[in-house]
Amino acid sequence: MKYTVLVNKENKIKNNYLDKCNLINTINELNEKIQVEENAYNNFLKLKEFLKSKNIYIDIDDSYRSINRQEELYNHYLENNGQEYCDNYVADPGYSEHHTGLAIDIMLKINDRYIREDMDLLEYRDIFEEIHKNLHKYGFILRYPKEKKTITGYSYEPWHFRYVGEFPAKIIYENDLCLEEYMKDFGTILYINKPKDVTSFDVVNTISKNFGIKRVGHTGTLDPLATGVLIVTVGKACKIVELLTSKDKEYIATVELGYETDTYDNTGKVLNKCEIPSNLNIKEILNSYKKTYMQEVPIYSAVKKDGKKLYEYARENKKVELPKKEVTIKEIELLENNNNTFKFKCLVTKGCYIRSLIHDIGKSLGVYATMTDLKRTKQGNITITDTDSINDINNLKLHSIVDTLNYQKIVVETDLEKKISNGMPINDNWNILDKVIFINKNSKLLAIYSKENNILKSFKNFT
Ligand code: DAL
Ligand code: ZN
Repeated sequence: MKYTVLVNKENKIKNNYLDKCNLINTINELNEKIQVEENAYNNFLKLKEFLKSKNIYIDIDDSYRSINRQEELYNHYLENNGQEYCDNYVADPGYSEHHTGLAIDIMLKINDRYIREDMDLLEYRDIFEEIHKNLHKYGFILRYPKEKKTITGYSYEPWHFRYVGEFPAKIIYENDLCLEEYMKDFGTILYINKPKDVTSFDVVNTISKNFGIKRVGHTGTLDPLATGVLIVTVGKACKIVELLTSKDKEYIATVELGYETDTYDNTGKVLNKCEIPSNLNIKEILNSYKKTYMQEVPIYSAVKKDGKKLYEYARENKKVELPKKEVTIKEIELLENNNNTFKFKCLVTKGCYIRSLIHDIGKSLGVYATMTDLKRTKQGNITITDTDSINDINNLKLHSIVDTLNYQKIVVETDLEKKISNGMPINDNWNILDKVIFINKNSKLLAIYSKENNILKSFKNFT
C-alpha cells in the first residue's frame, strides 16, 4: 500500500484504489460508524493516546467517504454555505482525499463536549498548534496548512490530518512542505553503503518504498557481490544522475589466481584452471595498468548490443562481439599479496569494470584471475565514511544537490534569477571552469549551467 497517494483538485481517486486499501469499520466515542484505513487508524489511536498525556482529547469526526457520500456533503454545503465555501473547503466528488481512507477529520473534546463544526474548531488555535507539532511522529501531516493554500487549493483546515507514513511525514514536517511539494518538487541524495548479496536495484526499491516516491535512481551499478558507496537520487535529484555517474570511482578489489569464470568473478561458472608460477611480478604488472585503454565490456553485463542485453546473449549461448570502451586507470596500488590471492586499490573513470580489469591483469600475468571481493570506497568526493547503512532506513541522512556536486556556487539577485529560471544563456562574469550552480538569496537551487564557447548555458533547471 502506497501511503503517499496524491488526490487533489487535479488528481482524481483511481477506480481500483480500494482493491489495495484495507478499510476497517469502527465507531467513534459518539457511537458513530467510521471507516478508515487500518494502518492510519492504528497510528491515530497512538496519536490520540499521546495527546491525552497533554490533556488534549481528540476523536475521529470523519474519515473514509465514498464518492456518493462526498456528493451528498458537497450539495449540503453548496446549499447552506455557497460556492465560495465549497471551493475553499469541500472537494468535488472523486477528488477528495477522504476517498483514500487515509484522511481523518478530528473533533476536539472540550469540557466534555465535542466541537466538530469547522468554524468553531478554528477558534482553538493553541490546541491545534500543540497537536500539529506531534502529527509526524505518528505518520500524519497537516494536509492543508495556512501558507500553502495556493498550492493545495484549499483553505487552512487544522482538523484534517492525512496519514502518509512515518518517514515521509518527518521529511514533510521538517522541510515545511505540503504533500504536493513533496511528491512533485522534493529532491534529495542518499549516500548508501550497499551490503553484499543485494542488487543496486533492491536498494533503489527499498528507498522508493520508504519515501513513497516512485522516481528513485542510482548513479552506477554495484554487482550483488560488491559493497560500498552507492549514491542514490530521490525525486527531482534524479535530474543529476548523469553528473554523479560520470565521477571517478575508487575501489578495493580482491583477486584469486588459478581459475577463470564466465562472469569474471567467483559467483560464476569455473571455465578454466591453471597452475600459478612462483615468480609472478604482480606489483609491476599492476603498475603497468596505470593507463588509458580500450576495455572489453564483460558479457555478463546489462550493456546492450543491437537492442539486447549482453548477458541475454550469454544465457542463450549466442555468439556476440563484445563492445569496447575507453577507460582510464588513474591510480593503482598493490595492498596485499599472498601469492595466489592479492588485493589492490584503484581509481578509475566512468564505465570501468573492475572484474574486466582483473581479467586483463590476469592475461598480462599469464594466469587466470578472478575477482572475489569488491568494495567501492569513493565516488567523486563521497567516501565510504560518508555513507549510511540501508538497515537503518528511518535515519538516513539527506544530502542536497548543491552539497553533493562540488561545483562553484553563485548566489544571484532577482533580475538574474529570472533569466536563469527561464533558462536563458548568460555571460560568464565569474570565470567558470566547466559547470556552475546558481542559487537565489533564499538558498533555493535554481539551475546548473554549463560553459560552452565562453557563454553559460542552462544545463539542468530546477525551478
Ligand atoms: N475538506 C477536504 C478538502 C475534502 O473535502 O476533501
Ligand atoms: Zn477532511
